[in-house]
Amino acid sequence: MIDLDHIRRLLAERRDGFSLPQGFYVDPAMHEADIKAVFEADWLFACNVCEIKQPGDFLTLEVGPNPVVILRDRDGEVRAFHNTCRHRGSRICGKEKGRATRLVCPYHQWVYELDGRLINARQMPPDFDRDGYGLKPVHVEVICGMVYICLAETPPDISRFRAAVTPYIKPHMPDRTKVAFEMTLIEDANWKLVIENNRECYHCAGNHPELLVTLVEFVLPDDEQGRKFQDLLARKTSRWDQLGLPHRPAEGGQEFRCIRLPFHEGMLSFTMDGGPACNKLLGDFTEPDLGSVRMFRVPNNWNHFLSDHIIHFRILPLSHDRTALRTTWLVHEDAVEGVDYDVERLTQVWIATNAEDAELAAVNHRGIRSMAYEPGPYAPSEFMIRNFLGWYAAKMESFANPHAPMQVAAE
Ligand code: FES
Ligand SMILES: [Fe+2]
Repeated sequence: MIDLDHIRRLLAERRDGFSLPQGFYVDPAMHEADIKAVFEADWLFACNVCEIKQPGDFLTLEVGPNPVVILRDRDGEVRAFHNTCRHRGSRICGKEKGRATRLVCPYHQWVYELDGRLINARQMPPDFDRDGYGLKPVHVEVICGMVYICLAETPPDISRFRAAVTPYIKPHMPDRTKVAFEMTLIEDANWKLVIENNRECYHCAGNHPELLVTLVEFVLPDDEQGRKFQDLLARKTSRWDQLGLPHRPAEGGQEFRCIRLPFHEGMLSFTMDGGPACNKLLGDFTEPDLGSVRMFRVPNNWNHFLSDHIIHFRILPLSHDRTALRTTWLVHEDAVEGVDYDVERLTQVWIATNAEDAELAAVNHRGIRSMAYEPGPYAPSEFMIRNFLGWYAAKMESFANPHAPMQVAAE
């Protein structure tokens, strides 16, 4: 049972510019509130269309207690359904990925078409109305090949996000890729700590030797911390302007961030020597020196779009103290393993970085459980966490005060 008074008290304690009151991170009951207020309410990144290329290809995921199946129907459309049988509720597709001509429930073999219609329910009486028992649909939006789903009855508007990020990511053609490698890491931390960790690079210098071979730690074009960065940026962006590739930060507010930033001079890709990770470039690119488009969207997705590969990151909370991070590395759909790319070289930097971040988030979570914990101040360079927590607090405000929408606007 969710105690809305408890959430209201925690929100009242919250100070802008400080980490959250303890209960938001460590209270087991907060998991259910987060699922309802955030994960059942907003758009979530699910996968790339290349993972469900052929009719009948499906991919499953679990949003809190909700099993979901995403598939390609016979007409080539991407669809999503609640992966729960309309007979007695059994989960239908059990595998994370697969191909099926129809979806057959393992319990009593009710059979569903790829468009969700119930087409066979054996032993049910002749007058049984199959039309009333199709799979319940889940909203789907495909943005340049990235599949987002929303479990809410009426999803929030995603058109501003679509319009803003498309010019940045479309040239990389995420829809013309294939998965070179994927992995799921279970992190022992609340999902908000996983996001917070991702939203700042204050921790990079002390923790990410592999990443910092290539990654420049500055996060905004007007970053005043380094003349060297300004010079590098000016050189790179004048070339990107010639190529028609947008790079200035998009107006994402608290909802999303999208920007193209350079790597260190001479570095082209996330590899241990900065050289290319894949010799076949994405899309129509002929130049490898495109830095990376970094795109983040609340609540569960960040990405890097490079000249030669794309990395999608997706998180889903498993409990108040466990979070699944799924990472997919994508290369051009025609790239050949062993010829154009080597999986170990392609994945080395971010496998190491993910592991380092997972440890940081887990240790962060452990420390927050202490009786001595109290919310601490963010550094100016942690401004993206403030954005994220401002967004999160507004979500929780409207959840905890369902009849007072004006309080959301005030936040
Ligand atoms: S629960 Fe699915 S067929 Fe019975
Ligand atoms: Fe990190």
